[in-house]
Amino acid sequence: MQIFLDTANIDQIREAAGLGIISGVTTNPSLVARETTSDYEAVTKKICSIVSGPVSVEVLAEDAEAMIKEARVKAAWAPNVNIKIPMTAEGLKATSVLSKEDIKINMTLCFSANQALLAALAGATYASIFIGRLDDAGHDGMQVVEDTMMILANYPELDAQLIAASIRNPMHVTRAALAGVDVATVPYAVLMQMMRHPLTDIGIKRFLADWKSVSKK
Ligand code: E4P
Repeated sequence: MQIFLDTANIDQIREAAGLGIISGVTTNPSLVARETTSDYEAVTKKICSIVSGPVSVEVLAEDAEAMIKEARVKAAWAPNVNIKIPMTAEGLKATSVLSKEDIKINMTLCFSANQALLAALAGATYASIFIGRLDDAGHDGMQVVEDTMMILANYPELDAQLIAASIRNPMHVTRAALAGVDVATVPYAVLMQMMRHPLTDIGIKRFLADWKSVSKK
């Protein structure tokens, strides 16, 4: 499984990239707005100068024709830009066109296995299932991910990859990995939680204390 970082924060991306474990970045308009900028292009170019893997950038247009135009412009920002298109009828139309132009599409805002299946049929490279938002709404987000994995396994000709998105905690990542998802896109805070364990800290302290006690002798 690959880990993408779900943020538009440059410091967080730099820090996580330094760990050598992230393969890409996903952004969305809310994440960019959180950085108090409306310059999506500048932020994207900066991210792409740090990360060589896929960087998802979302379109804001709502009809297929405008989505296609916007996607072509945004895809030219950097060679590793992937375009996030929302899972709507217009989004499917745009994805069917753009995927034939070698533009990689991350179909976003998928909340059911059927939506992810349609994304795959339209030629999307990725379908993002929003686990946390499903859980928040009283559904079982992980069940949707597991069902979708089973469906995609039935049809090897559908080569869309599944992204576990809207991750809220490390357990979401563990369960996504157990389900065999291709990618989990995680917020920086969750990545830090995944890395740390109190017993690791205690273990390090104890090793150093034991070593000090003998090295004084
Ligand atoms: C995915 O690509 C989205 O950016 C993201 O995971 C949305 O998560 P949220 O529900 O925390 O906003």
